[in-house]
Amino acid sequence: MQAGIRGLTTSLNSAGKYMYKSPEAAVDHIIIGGGVVGLAVARALLQCFPDKSTILIERHTRPGEEASSRNSEVIHGGLYYPPNSLKTRLCLRGRQMLYSYCAKHDIPHRRLGKLVVGREGQREYLAKMHAKARALRAPPHWNHSADPQVLPTEILSGVAARECVPELAREITSALWSPLTGIVDSAALLNSLEKDIRDAGGTIAYATRAVRIDIDAAAAERSSGGPGWVVQTVTGTEENDGNADADATLARVLINAAGLGATSVLNEILPPARHVPIYFARGAYATYRGPGVRDIQHLVYPADEASTAKGASFHSLGTHLTFDMAGNVRFGPDIDWLSAPNSAKHDEEVWEPHLSPDEERAHSMHASVLRYLPGVKPEGFQPDYAGIRPKLAPPGAPFQDFVVRTDYAEERKGRAPMISLLGIESPGLTASLALAEMVVEDMLAKTNEKRIETKII
Ligand SMILES: Cc1cc2nc3c(=O)[nH]c(=O)nc-3n(C[C@H](O)[C@H](O)[C@H](O)COP(=O)(O)OP(=O)(O)OC[C@H]3O[C@@H](n4cnc5c(N)ncnc54)[C@H](O)[C@@H]3O)c2cc1C
Ligand SMILES: *[C@@H]1O[C@H](CO)[C@@H](O)[C@H](O)[C@H]1NC(C)=O
Repeated sequence: MQAGIRGLTTSLNSAGKYMYKSPEAAVDHIIIGGGVVGLAVARALLQCFPDKSTILIERHTRPGEEASSRNSEVIHGGLYYPPNSLKTRLCLRGRQMLYSYCAKHDIPHRRLGKLVVGREGQREYLAKMHAKARALRAPPHWNHSADPQVLPTEILSGVAARECVPELAREITSALWSPLTGIVDSAALLNSLEKDIRDAGGTIAYATRAVRIDIDAAAAERSSGGPGWVVQTVTGTEENDGNADADATLARVLINAAGLGATSVLNEILPPARHVPIYFARGAYATYRGPGVRDIQHLVYPADEASTAKGASFHSLGTHLTFDMAGNVRFGPDIDWLSAPNSAKHDEEVWEPHLSPDEERAHSMHASVLRYLPGVKPEGFQPDYAGIRPKLAPPGAPFQDFVVRTDYAEERKGRAPMISLLGIESPGLTASLALAEMVVEDMLAKTNEKRIETKII
């Protein structure tokens, strides 16, 4: 099933529909993408540079309509990835920031703790994960007074695991306990970040799509504060025929947080031979009502999928048990790779038709859950929703980290950066505030350039 999966290498304006336009206005920061990452970066930019102008554009009419509202809502501990990867570092720091943000802003969340459960053959895998967690060093910006230990874990026997989860399969002989894993109400988080942006004077333009990006070569000669990126946008839901209605704005700094569309944005400024492909992997969820899940208070993850793959690539953490904020049991996500048709022009054309949940998937989910919760019944599974993971590598590839890449409008002098956040799959929700901290404090504040006036050119 996974053979021949094709990635998508298009750019926003592959079809050549939009012609170059001179910018009508200039701003300091444009962020493309109103998911949790784009919102977090916009918020951090406004905090760090209160005098600069910041605009976020989002193609939907609300924040977080794509990956940010179609995930497990799990605040991850940071167990799974190589110790020095961005995924680990930003997950650890992001978790710390997210718990503190949720507490401060009254965002519903629960520190439920999680069990990774394994059979006899997975004992060693769990022990290794435990050893790795203990050896983790504090990531950049870590607040030691808030959490002296970076990632506490404990190994439990099968008996102890069954005390936590009474109906766990008898074949489960050990488990890894991660007390700091939790869940968060992602809609409340998105709303709160949006409010922070507005309160700080930022602008959010919904129903606004980036359709073309150019380097503004001529800007250096104008008194507009140096080079930048010309971002063309179209507002409204109707497709239009030319670029008569497109607005062109010059951005001093461009943040590409477009999620599933992030490579299409980046490819705009690269020659076709260097286009970066993106692959889409769908993950579906089912709600569950029925026997087999009595008295479960924690998240339960199988060790299977991650451990059995040689050189574990972590395409998915396995169909796990989680809860919504109301305490209802939910299983998911599974993994199903989508292949881009030859004719696809936009990222949405590939994945949008796959968002509705389906019955068949709910059934195969039953089969994988049976391996650790043998009492669950197929009729208890109700298809719920599906989300799409933006993958930078095809099925079977080794571990792929988040990629944060900088291109400059004036490459030679390193001026006017475009920062692209690529392949922000799990644990991107957990990592969002730390990604923003890294982009703004480590990458942009250090080169703190003079503000440019927001003005009509
Ligand atoms: C099935 C699944 C389960 C997951 N589970 C977890 C989990 O439990 N814990 C966790 O920490 N993470 C999890 N994740 C990962 C997490 O959901 C994502 O990493 C995170 O939401 C990414 O946020 P984002 O802002 O980068 O992307 P998105 O939320 O997708 O936002 C990108 C935004 O950019 C907009 N956009 C794109 N192109 C354009 C354009 N041209 N013009 C204007 N706007 C544009 C889109 O409309 C979109 O709103 C999961 C992901 C999936 C798919
Ligand atoms: C660090 O954590 C402590 C304890 O939770 C908190 O009071 C303090 O504000 C935090 N500092 C920073 C810089 O986040």
